[in-house]
Amino acid sequence: MKRALRRERDTVVVLCGGRSAERLVSMVSAQCVVSSLDSRRFRVRLIHLGVDGSWMEVRPRNLLAEEPASLHSSPAAARRVRAGGKRLDPWSLLTSLREKDCVFPVLHGPMGEDGTLQGMLELARVPYVGCGVLGSAAGMDKEATKRIADQAGLPQVPWAVARTAQEASVAARRLGYPVFIKPARMGSSVGVVKVQDPSGIAAALREALRYDDKALVEKGIPAREIETAVLGDPWAEAGDRYALKASIVAEIEPNAEFYDYRAKYLDPDGARVLIPAPVPPPVAERVRALALSAFRALDLYGLARVDFFIHKRTGAVYFNEPNTLPGFTPISMYPRLWRESGVPTGRLVEILIALAHRRARTRRRLRVEGPNSGPPRP
Ligand SMILES: Nc1ncnc2c1ncn2[C@@H]1O[C@H](COP(=O)(O)OP(=O)(O)O)[C@@H](O)[C@H]1O
Ligand SMILES: [Mg+2]
Repeated sequence: MKRALRRERDTVVVLCGGRSAERLVSMVSAQCVVSSLDSRRFRVRLIHLGVDGSWMEVRPRNLLAEEPASLHSSPAAARRVRAGGKRLDPWSLLTSLREKDCVFPVLHGPMGEDGTLQGMLELARVPYVGCGVLGSAAGMDKEATKRIADQAGLPQVPWAVARTAQEASVAARRLGYPVFIKPARMGSSVGVVKVQDPSGIAAALREALRYDDKALVEKGIPAREIETAVLGDPWAEAGDRYALKASIVAEIEPNAEFYDYRAKYLDPDGARVLIPAPVPPPVAERVRALALSAFRALDLYGLARVDFFIHKRTGAVYFNEPNTLPGFTPISMYPRLWRESGVPTGRLVEILIALAHRRARTRRRLRVEGPNSGPPRP
């Protein structure tokens, strides 16, 4: 009897792993999301997406038992998480969910953060955390991001697209060395190379094109790295509790030539994090305002970490990029910035889930019939 009276918990399907080079980071992020979800309110189903595209339901407790460091580096840890897992059909899983359930994709990079998965979730009509199809795709593709941000008047470093070494050389000559060459649709600094002179172009482009068939060439600036975390519904009325907000601003001081993969994830002393960033209040305010503009211009929803550069000599602020499914590990900036802004991570994941339902409700209300459908008029 008691059991029947207890409120039935909402199911949150947490997706982790995936097909991108960032799948290991995603496991650590998923661990943090799962452990932050209040088990009295939510029932967690944890799904591991394999590199081969398979979906496997695994035990949340297998994931929680692992040390974050080993999840990130040891194939044996990944195998332990998958032990006893059950393969399932993604479509059957998604269409079995109820209106009050939701999907929390904790997948970084291509095939998770880039709109492909979001398209599937839209088709299945399930509420899901984070940006929709367009925002995810636009935020993942650095060329699309830059075009939209240019059009919205956001300040950016000069850039060009290159698919061949010839194009990259021409672009670099025009922009001036050093340049950064990067895959258009990647993240975590994977495939990003700083090039000092023309002799480095071909190898850098080859490296970028290992991850994508399109590369960006950007003018390299002496940059301070500044980030802010954005949360909310971009179209909520001012004063609404879910109105869009930016957190306090952080600075990252990489202990390397730039903020590369090693400094981000492998080297414990890879970077120093300063929260709040030691910048004058009007600069922090400008970063936050630009972050909200970028969020709206790129059609993002729910959450994004928005990254900026501040030119070390001129002090100019440049928008760099959004991260629509930012790292969610205990030391990741997104949850950390909100903690430091007064939102504990347990509350943060609840807000993200509430936002997922808010968007799903709006979408369910949309008309599916055209103005001319219905019975023919006499
Ligand atoms: N134009 C640039 N000038 C100076 N540093 C850059 C520039 N572009 C990238 N970087 C360095 O490379 C890092 C990764 O580049 P970013 O564009 O953020 O790619 P990712 O999506 O992989 O994070 C940045 O955090 C920064 O340290
Ligand atoms: Mg980045």
